[in-house]
Amino acid sequence: MSRQFRIAPSILSANFAKLGQEVNDVIASGTDIVHFDVMDNHYVPNLTIGPLVCESLRPVTDAFIDVHLMVKPVDRIIPDFAKAGANMITFHPEASDHIDRTLALIKECGCKAGLVFNPATSLSYLDHVMDKVDMILLMSVNPGFGGQKFIPETLNKIRAVRQRIDASGRDIWLEVDGGVKVDNIAEIARAGADVFVAGSAIFGSPKDTDPNRYDTVVAAMRAELAKA
Ligand code: DX5
Ligand code: ZN
Repeated sequence: MSRQFRIAPSILSANFAKLGQEVNDVIASGTDIVHFDVMDNHYVPNLTIGPLVCESLRPVTDAFIDVHLMVKPVDRIIPDFAKAGANMITFHPEASDHIDRTLALIKECGCKAGLVFNPATSLSYLDHVMDKVDMILLMSVNPGFGGQKFIPETLNKIRAVRQRIDASGRDIWLEVDGGVKVDNIAEIARAGADVFVAGSAIFGSPKDTDPNRYDTVVAAMRAELAKA
């Protein structure tokens, strides 16, 4: 298996009272990417964090910051996240009136760009933009909350996207988000994913305060991925 696997802890489940420390500790435990969930209480029924928090984290970590926008409309906020230090910005096609334009805007702002698919969103949105995406993010839960259960049908969708990526010949990351745990990460990898978002599995409850609590989980995920 030549694919490189990346683990992307979702800071949605971190302890926000000491977010900088949480990010440093979780990256030190062997993860690769900071997954930054932005919710607007409009596109999804929850409210989280915005560009100010990204800007505060940027000097604290060198890690790649993957901003998952669950907001509608989406274009207005993209330059703010780019200025705040985002490396990748992904958005849901239903949240943009002009998908090609939004992808171009993200690139113009100097970030990598990706499209996010809810469990029931058709992959046909990819038909004319495969040359413009750096990542495809498949939601394996409905967006809005951490701690939900992985929807098994996602595995078929991952296989379909893997085929599309391989056929494109481009180095497009395939990220899966929602309900990823130690006991299903290998199966998700075998289906074709290479970036794994995990919130509650890594951080446990936001109320947990032990700074080393995720070392064991991340090591177990790495061991499972090595078998995939
Ligand atoms: C859900 C978010 C996810 C979430 C994942 O809308 O996009 O990133 O934090 O959380 P877990 O890993 O707990 O399912
Ligand atoms: Zn997410």
